Amino acid sequence: PVDVWIDCDPGHDDVVALMIAASADHCNILGLSTVHGNTTVENATHNALSVMELLKKNVDVHSGAAKPLMRPSKLATHIHGVNGLADIALLPDQPKKRAAPDAVVAMHQAISQNPVPVTLVATGPLTNVALMLATYPKVTENIERLVFMGGSTGIGNITSQAEFNMFADPEAAKLVLETSSLVGKLYMIPLDVTHNVLMDSSIMTKLQQHASPIAETILELMTVFQATYETVYGFKNGVPVHDACAIVYALWPEIMTSRLMHATISLDHLTLGRTVCDIWSQQTQFFPNVHIVLNADVAAFWKLFTLIVDKLDAL
Ligand code: BDR
Ligand code: CA
Repeated sequence: PVDVWIDCDPGHDDVVALMIAASADHCNILGLSTVHGNTTVENATHNALSVMELLKKNVDVHSGAAKPLMRPSKLATHIHGVNGLADIALLPDQPKKRAAPDAVVAMHQAISQNPVPVTLVATGPLTNVALMLATYPKVTENIERLVFMGGSTGIGNITSQAEFNMFADPEAAKLVLETSSLVGKLYMIPLDVTHNVLMDSSIMTKLQQHASPIAETILELMTVFQATYETVYGFKNGVPVHDACAIVYALWPEIMTSRLMHATISLDHLTLGRTVCDIWSQQTQFFPNVHIVLNADVAAFWKLFTLIVDKLDAL
């Protein structure tokens, strides 16, 4: 099994990522933590608890940072609505399990005490992860990989230069990318790849054929997300499932390819939050630190997704 901790801000695509993680046979979820980002941390926590209850998974959800390290919050309500899910109330809307506290402490404990190295998957701004690295630097000894959705080698989605998760807390992202004990353990899932893994009408039609509440939830969420993506970004032939790519990479890395290169985060005004990637590996004075995932086998991705939805039907 792959032992994972997931730090997230659900979020339409975060929900899909959580569903994949919760239903993959070889995924052992050690715990979840939530962070500000798509919505407030309170809403993100509520949404994560609802998803876990819907999936009948008894996993603790630890609430984390309510704001970025050094800046005011920049919530993505224009993309994810006020509650993080375009105001769709996930069922159950009153999850029985309460939120657990202290995301950073809990994440550190779970990782450092785990008998085998852990894959940390981050699908929101990197505030909790940065706080953990700053507070407990030795935690990296038991991190096998940090797989994070964020960044782009080209244009961004929140500004022309920056992707949302990196822009929402650029200082946290910079701290993470520049942590020397994570060199070679960082796996970035950028827009370059997530904009090619689109949930299109053929996948949506397949979802309609499933009568389970889980398939219905995915369909409802992604139908609204598709409409938003069409209006805001002009996506006509499907909608990205960004964070789902991160969890799929963590669990089935063989269906994607990456390149190790130097990357950091810009803190300069117009390029704030941009992932600056030495894509041609020309700047040899800077050591390669991040595996940047650039391609996915899209057919294999949707085949896996379909198998997972079949499995979720049985819940
Ligand atoms: C990322 O930003 C959020 O809106 C999504 O959940 C994803 O993590 C995409 O840029
Ligand atoms: Ca997210």
